Amino acid sequence: MKAKKIFYCTECGNEFAKWSGQCPACGKWNTLAEGEAAPAVSSKKSFSGAKSAREGKPVKLAEIGGADEIRFSTGIEELDRVLGGGAVVGALVLVGGAPGIGKSTLLLQMCMHIGRFADVLYVTGEESANQLKMRANRLNVKGDGLSVLPETSLDAVLSAVEKTGPNVVIVDSIQTLYDPDGTGAPGSVSQIKGCTMALMKLAKENGITVFVVGHVNKDGDIAGPKILEHMVDCVLYFEGESHTRYRIIRAAKNRFGSTNEIGVFEMEEKGLREVPNPSETLLSGRPVNVPGTCVACVMEGTRPLLAEIQALVSRSGAAVTRRVADGFDFNRLLLLLAVLEKRGGMNIGSCDAYVNVIGGLRLDEPAADLPAVIALASSMKDCPVDSSMAALGEVGLTGELRAVSSLNQRLAEIARLGFRRVIIPKQGSAGIVFPEGLEVFRAKNVREAIEAALTR
Ligand SMILES: Nc1ncnc2c1ncn2[C@@H]1O[C@H](COP(=O)(O)OP(=O)(O)OP(=O)(O)O)[C@@H](O)[C@H]1O
Ligand SMILES: [Mg+2]
Repeated sequence: MKAKKIFYCTECGNEFAKWSGQCPACGKWNTLAEGEAAPAVSSKKSFSGAKSAREGKPVKLAEIGGADEIRFSTGIEELDRVLGGGAVVGALVLVGGAPGIGKSTLLLQMCMHIGRFADVLYVTGEESANQLKMRANRLNVKGDGLSVLPETSLDAVLSAVEKTGPNVVIVDSIQTLYDPDGTGAPGSVSQIKGCTMALMKLAKENGITVFVVGHVNKDGDIAGPKILEHMVDCVLYFEGESHTRYRIIRAAKNRFGSTNEIGVFEMEEKGLREVPNPSETLLSGRPVNVPGTCVACVMEGTRPLLAEIQALVSRSGAAVTRRVADGFDFNRLLLLLAVLEKRGGMNIGSCDAYVNVIGGLRLDEPAADLPAVIALASSMKDCPVDSSMAALGEVGLTGELRAVSSLNQRLAEIARLGFRRVIIPKQGSAGIVFPEGLEVFRAKNVREAIEAALTR
């Protein structure tokens, strides 16, 4: 069959049926070049149900078939949840994370399951096939359905895909992939854009699910152009402190599901172990009867999660006070300190204040305000909070406590973990049926909450 003629923009990579002087997509002049539409790569199994033929003519929405996306399980429940209920056929998923955090480990463990019912091609540009085999042995990953391609050339990858027709392709990493026809060195903006575009085409036109590993820069964002995150269907960040065992995967973008869910793992010698009950794990080994700690309950997607917030307040020797927040929003900490000073009646303004969330977790939800305030007050007064007590609630600028969402679910989780007392905002708690055995203090403002937490 004769290949179809197309025009593509050398800047943005978009394709058009007709030539024009200015690219209709990116607006650049004289960037359209003539080329041939890539022949469709055949895929082996019925798995490739999402094959789409882009013929360049508009189609009526009502005439488009295949309403629902086709999903399959990655075999890792925590990862499935973050992806929105499994991986989608024909999707391009970008997995970013700091060096050594466990990106390759996670994807290789995923291959073990997917390899049982589909063909997987693992393109490794960073490590040799031998290194990958050594990791597979350590993780006890069996090789069924998994082929390894130690390559950095985009052409070689595309031709291997054409020859073997895998259902899932893993590219580790996009920064090492190189298109000889493109400009720039591997890892450069133009190379990353060009290679991602080619992988996107591969995924969409052949119904192949592609997982791409991306390096992060020193700010923690995926290295390369921001457009990379726009191009792909799903962006996952693998986070955690490399010195702690816990790893959290969260979706920064997901065209097929919510971005609220997180997956929790523990790094062990045999690889990543799922943590189905993160609250229990995050609270294990927590200090008891020590000033400056309080348990918070935040919602991570549909799951309530309990975590310990620690605070240390000390008299400042310097003219300028120090404030440090780890796992907690810095500006929020400043705001809470101001509320404590003005509305909580505490002379905390001249003190150094440190807040740390245990387990490498980031608490961005307003419900973490009250436990942070209580931990700070507890450290300031050198008075411990009852270890069977948790707290939740948003703190307003007048010191009032504001209602939080999903109160029933949070209280149920707090009771399930054996807590006997909890402080919640009075606002929004009318009509709530409290779990049996849980003593609930409904406080109107921070003063009331601190009093309830620090008086026994
Ligand atoms: N023999 C081992 N025993 C225990 N843990 C190990 C062992 N080897 C590696 N690890 C763990 O695996 C991590 C490396 O995982 P992995 O190579 O998957 O990370 P990565 O995110 O792919 O890194 P990179 O960005 O360098 O490719 C190490 O940081 C370490 O925690
Ligand atoms: Mg790696």
